[in-house]
Amino acid sequence: MALLKIARMGHPVLRRPAAPVDDPTDPEIARLVSDMIETLADSGGVGLAAPQVHVPLRVIVIGVPDQRAEEEEASLPLTALVNPEIEAVGEAVVTRPEGCLSLPEMMGRVPRPARVRYRALGLDGAPIEREVGGFHARVVQHEVDHLNGILYPMRMTDLGTLGYVEEFRKGMSEDWEGEGR
Ligand code: NI
Repeated sequence: MALLKIARMGHPVLRRPAAPVDDPTDPEIARLVSDMIETLADSGGVGLAAPQVHVPLRVIVIGVPDQRAEEEEASLPLTALVNPEIEAVGEAVVTRPEGCLSLPEMMGRVPRPARVRYRALGLDGAPIEREVGGFHARVVQHEVDHLNGILYPMRMTDLGTLGYVEEFRKGMSEDWEGEGR
């Protein structure tokens, strides 16, 4: 187990599309995921994509903490998804604050589809398929974006809502409920 160094916005690894994993049961992938989970636990984040730790592969780890689970959505322990694919369900879009471990101390309000369906492989190679909304839908979209070289400011429609968490805390308490990852 090891804490991994997190790439920050501006590093080219965050802008390149990541490559699919050939064998999700490869012990190297299990080791990567174990280190990603340890790194996430250390940072207090709820999602991490392999390119953020300088590994250009299609692997993400996501979780939905109890306090983030909404009425119809269950919480989710930190879970690895290999080669995830995602599609929006319906037309509804919601705009909520997001943060990212690659943009430390910052947050911004990001519009995203409210519900998504995703497919992925687990570390045992078994398929995972879910349809989700709420925080779960947001975190999986944020992390899959990382696999395609997209950071959340690139999804924002109002850059006036991008700023430092500390400043939002001081002045706009209703807006600062960041979802740090
Ligand atoms: Ni992120």
